[in-house]
Amino acid sequence: MKFRKTIGKNAAAIIFSASPERRSFDETHRFKQNKNFFYLTGFNQPNSALVILPEDISVDFPYMNRKKKVSEILFTQGSDDFAERWEGKRTSFEQVNKDVGVEAGMPIYLLDKFISTNLRTYRYLYTNIDQLINLRSEMREVMLGFVDKLRLHSVSHIFCDVNFIIGTMRKVKHEFEVNQIKRAIDITSKGFSGLLKIIKPGMMEYQVQAELEKIYRSYGATDIAYSTIVASGNNACYLHYDTNGDKISAGDLMVIDSGAEFNMYNADVTRTFPVSGRFNKAQRFIYDVVLTANKECISRARAGINFRELSAFSESLIANKLFRAGVIKKNNSIKRYTMHSLGHGLGLDVHDAVPHVKYSDVDYDKLIAGEVITIEPGLYFMKNDQTVPKQFRGIGVRIEDDILITKSGCVNLTAGIVKEPDEIEKLMAG
Ligand code: GLY
Ligand code: MN
Ligand code: MN
Repeated sequence: MKFRKTIGKNAAAIIFSASPERRSFDETHRFKQNKNFFYLTGFNQPNSALVILPEDISVDFPYMNRKKKVSEILFTQGSDDFAERWEGKRTSFEQVNKDVGVEAGMPIYLLDKFISTNLRTYRYLYTNIDQLINLRSEMREVMLGFVDKLRLHSVSHIFCDVNFIIGTMRKVKHEFEVNQIKRAIDITSKGFSGLLKIIKPGMMEYQVQAELEKIYRSYGATDIAYSTIVASGNNACYLHYDTNGDKISAGDLMVIDSGAEFNMYNADVTRTFPVSGRFNKAQRFIYDVVLTANKECISRARAGINFRELSAFSESLIANKLFRAGVIKKNNSIKRYTMHSLGHGLGLDVHDAVPHVKYSDVDYDKLIAGEVITIEPGLYFMKNDQTVPKQFRGIGVRIEDDILITKSGCVNLTAGIVKEPDEIEKLMAG
């Protein structure tokens, strides 16, 4: 296993699953698995932990009444008829090997004892610290013993966080993963194309959201990737606007930033549509600037390119166009209107899974074949922004595509979702 090799011979790892998050009183939010735990196990049940050892050790399995040599164990809840009647099916310890592919299952309540007795000799203990400190419900009870003993553990172990290590492993997608992302995109594409004939002035933003999410679910989406943004007019200038509570006014633009989740993998797409079916002159100009940046960046995206350089290229292209047209007075003030960077990795997390950063020893900014990223330039002119001519105020435009990087270039996975302005107008006209 690549992960085991990366952490080395003197190291053991305990990767925690998510536990249910309380929503109110005795209700929980819909369960969402920890993505690094899911990446290693494909196991989608709560209150579990994966233990990985550098070599086989002999372990006593109470439910087998015998010892067995293993180097990986999935600690989990196991079967419980009563709990399953309330919460759904669980994998039994006996089934873990066959169904999950981890060598053996073990009751989660034995994890604390297992750590204390079997992990003493490894100098490095790798864990997903964010999930450890976020443990809830029964899992918190189970692990309090371990947490209480952290002070003792910390004198015999060096604790390391796994998120960066697994994050970098997740950068390059396997074929299976690309196919899951494509399924999420396919569903998202159906949602967006279903909207073009529906959007009308006078609708509420949440009605557009409802149409979109109805289509996602009806085509088998397992969730939405993130809170759907339907932002008309000036609302588009608030980047994570997701209240979607305003009436859509004639003549406004509308930014729709949305994606379906399929089997834990995500799509992340933004399109900007004219509510009345036609762009006015100022809107069309801004739209064309953003679309040019989007297309120029996609045409340059390939393995070996630095993503931050591509981001800077996008900004200078946009700045020059706006400056030449007299929309902005200084082309070094562009950040005020572009706000966010060009994009991010995409996969199990919508912002997946390590940032594009160049460190002193390794360059994670350089794009690699097999990465999936978004390219999403945007421009936002607040309605009260006196620094731009009046006709541009209250306009927000973002165009976001999902891109698979290849050795020689890239594949635009969201190419089927309409973004050419003439085509948008034609489709909206019916
Ligand atoms: N939907 C969030 C983003 O575009 O990054
Ligand atoms: Mn987005
Ligand atoms: Mn995005």
